[in-house]
Amino acid sequence: MRKKLIAGNWKMYKTIPETEELIKAVLKEALPKGVGIAICPPFTSLMAAASLLKGSGIHLGAQNMSENDEGAFTGEISWKMLKSAGCDMVILGHSERRQYYGETNEKVNAKARKALANGLTPIVCVGETLQEREGGVMEKVVGGQIRGCLAGFSAPDVESLVIAYEPVWAIGTGRNATPEQAQSVHAFIRGLVSELHSAATAEKIVIQYGGSVKPDNAANLLCQHDIDGALVGGACLKAESFGAIIRAAGV
Ligand code: 13P
Repeated sequence: MRKKLIAGNWKMYKTIPETEELIKAVLKEALPKGVGIAICPPFTSLMAAASLLKGSGIHLGAQNMSENDEGAFTGEISWKMLKSAGCDMVILGHSERRQYYGETNEKVNAKARKALANGLTPIVCVGETLQEREGGVMEKVVGGQIRGCLAGFSAPDVESLVIAYEPVWAIGTGRNATPEQAQSVHAFIRGLVSELHSAATAEKIVIQYGGSVKPDNAANLLCQHDIDGALVGGACLKAESFGAIIRAAGV
């Protein structure tokens, strides 16, 4: 049985005092045992978050990472820096990074490789645009992203990373994929992992859904066979709604 993982992607929201306030409120929520939880605040809030999350069992993730170890790369953050700030996870290849910062599958591959080699769990994001879905090339696009982002990875590497399927048209739009739409893409992704590796590896990999996940649609999405959790944007910025989504994964 795959354990469900609910991760909150805070994006570019929350100062350090706001971070402390939100994490304290999340910790006051009734959180079911048996559901993995991750919080991914901005870089500047990582240390404050880490100190409040200590001993809680909640994972701490960053939203991006350099593919290099160190060097003259102004504005970049390395895996070593993330680990020393208390992270054990990192979101890679989010569609906003692909769209606004030119992140390619090759870059995501190099970053994920670096994360895995250094004990950080990558959450590798994939997803098609509305135009691509309507143009009938969703499987080609998502399949290409999976093949590119995971190219050359060993089965143990693939088993220890997380994939987040986030249809771009559902992000921040209030228009979530229906549970059936999401399930069918998740099954496609799992099938592809099986083809590229083995059925055993495909059974183990955690595939999250992301895109307008809210307390009122979470349960129907999370009960789908191949949906192993959620990557939550807007609704993770309030403790009550993040808590409610986590509880929906626990039933
Ligand atoms: P929303 O939940 O705000 O649609 O964002 C989803 C997302 O991009 C999470 O990474």
